[in-house]
Amino acid sequence: MPYKTFVVILSLFVLTLSIDPVSVSAHSGAKGIVKERMELMKDIGKAMKILGAMARGKVPLDNAKVKAAADSIARHGQKIPALFPKGSTKGVTEAGPRIWKDPEGFQKSTNEMVDAARNITEQSENAAALKPAYRRLGKTCSACHKLYRVKKKKMEYPR
Ligand code: HEC
Repeated sequence: MPYKTFVVILSLFVLTLSIDPVSVSAHSGAKGIVKERMELMKDIGKAMKILGAMARGKVPLDNAKVKAAADSIARHGQKIPALFPKGSTKGVTEAGPRIWKDPEGFQKSTNEMVDAARNITEQSENAAALKPAYRRLGKTCSACHKLYRVKKKKMEYPR
């Protein structure tokens, strides 16, 4: 192989190596319940991506998929408070101290997300309603993150 090609391949390889650890750094080291809630949030984020793509008309609307994604967010949402027991701040976590200072507020924030997700499920037949409903749901994510998450990286769901 010509030397130049070799150098290009090598530098691509090095680039990949140096990018990868960054994208997973929020999780590396997370254990137990912290890891569990990160996985849950990631699942919520994935469902949000599905909804977002359809809300913005990037992929054709599929009522069954809208319903499944919204249902999944609502179901996951109900588990949020229990995944933040007192003292679960060891290691890698973005959980903010306010979660334990204001548990009622944290619960209220959770309920708002669950309600917004259920609202989408109920209206999954109504294409025109999806966009505003998706926005409303997205706002509940940011509202909670603003108060209760010490953000170390950018949000992952599309706006
Ligand atoms: C009731 C509060 C609350 C709501 C509502 C909420 N989140 Fe979170 N989210 C958090 C907290 C707290 C963390 C940090 C958890 C940790 O690092 O221990 C987090 C972390 C995340 C993460 C990062 C997970 C990781 O890999 O470290 C993503 C992605 C995420 N949330 C997406 C969402 C989306 C999308 C929504 C809305 C559909 C949402 N969240 C709604 C509180 C919430």
